[in-house]
Amino acid sequence: MRHTETDTLILGAGAAGMMCAARCTGRVMVIDHAAKPGEKIRISGGGRCNFTNLGVEPARFVSHNPHFAKSALARYTQWDFIDLVDRHGIAWHEKTLGQLFCDGKSTQVVDMLRAEMAHADLRLDTSLTSLAHNGAQFEARLARNGRDERVTARAVVLATGGKSIPKMGATGLAYDLARQFGLRVTDTRPALVPLTFDGQPFAGLSGVATPVTASAGGAAFDEAMLFTHRGLSGPAILQVSTYWREGDGVRIDLDPAGRLAPALRAQRAEAGRVQLSSVLARHLPQRLVQHLAADLGLDRRVADCSDTAIDEVERALRGWTLSPTGSEGYRTAEVTLGGIDTDDLSSKTMEAKTVPGLYAIGEAVDVTGWLGGYNFQWAWSSAVAAAEAI
Ligand code: FDA
Repeated sequence: MRHTETDTLILGAGAAGMMCAARCTGRVMVIDHAAKPGEKIRISGGGRCNFTNLGVEPARFVSHNPHFAKSALARYTQWDFIDLVDRHGIAWHEKTLGQLFCDGKSTQVVDMLRAEMAHADLRLDTSLTSLAHNGAQFEARLARNGRDERVTARAVVLATGGKSIPKMGATGLAYDLARQFGLRVTDTRPALVPLTFDGQPFAGLSGVATPVTASAGGAAFDEAMLFTHRGLSGPAILQVSTYWREGDGVRIDLDPAGRLAPALRAQRAEAGRVQLSSVLARHLPQRLVQHLAADLGLDRRVADCSDTAIDEVERALRGWTLSPTGSEGYRTAEVTLGGIDTDDLSSKTMEAKTVPGLYAIGEAVDVTGWLGGYNFQWAWSSAVAAAEAI
């Protein structure tokens, strides 16, 4: 069997693994079972990769230990990544809420990382058969096209990501290896994922989008909500899905700017014969107003509404509480919440506290960012933290 010696073996050529390879000195081998590296980068941000966010701050990351991400995020910031992108001449723009996207294709980011990691030995279509530590170094068995190879390495980096989108090759390998080496793994669940409901109550509204404030589990997000055949999606819902738990309600404020009650009162003063539903349809999508009409009694004249009645309609629209029964799961989730327990890793270096030479970075770790470029920034920052320590 062929034997290769390397200094650092990185498992996973995704965002974190490629960045780590780029910043590691010495001999670096990166393996991935996919045919191409950085496939999630390629499909991210609708093909334009939302590669970071101007508003990166630790509070926008969810973890069992909310302090864990601070050090890595502070040492390799969004400005460092922007600088890298600029040096490679990749044009970008801010979309909304500090989200930075490529002007062109997201493959520019993949190509940039490939160029940065040109010194690394990248092995694609390659699987890990086993990983052990023999007291002095790690020993990995790899398989490619039916041929086995033994690789010895001083350091191993777990960078195989989370469980989201198994169709793209996501596996729980990092969690399995972490457990094998005695690290704990927190409960994992799909996050940044559409929420579903029994009986498809919004099927008739499929395709309708409206700005809302969506709240669940103590977090609130002002963004667009989208009705789908299966339930609710859109950025506001993807964001709250990280905080929502089975059995909880999601509170939707359909009037985040607070314009509806004043509009109804003004209409009553000017021409009260107009139907409540007609006034609301000037501010909310018509199909949504129709959907709510029976429950809220919107088929009546504004003139017939007392102040109390208008207040009740406002309360209902601003505190619409829905009870999702589940989510679309890992099939469509952008990320995995939870992962390798941060209590078992150094926040400075991402090295396992009890296994010198073993590192975990990116989505495999129990650090999950908000929607909007935060998860890539965690991949870049955690990768650099590990690379600088190796
Ligand atoms: P990542 O998943 O990128 O890489 C893991 C690598 O390990 C993959 O190449 C995989 O093939 C490999 N691998 C897995 N199991 C293996 C095994 N058993 N053996 C060998 N190799 C294995 N984030 C963001 O900030 N901005 C955005 O615009 C988006 N958009 C987006 C869209 C969609 C559709 C998804 C699904 C996700 C996003 N994300 C995002 C999230 C972002 O893609 C994610 O957080 C990072 O890619 C995580 O980087 P990692 O390197 O940790 O894992």
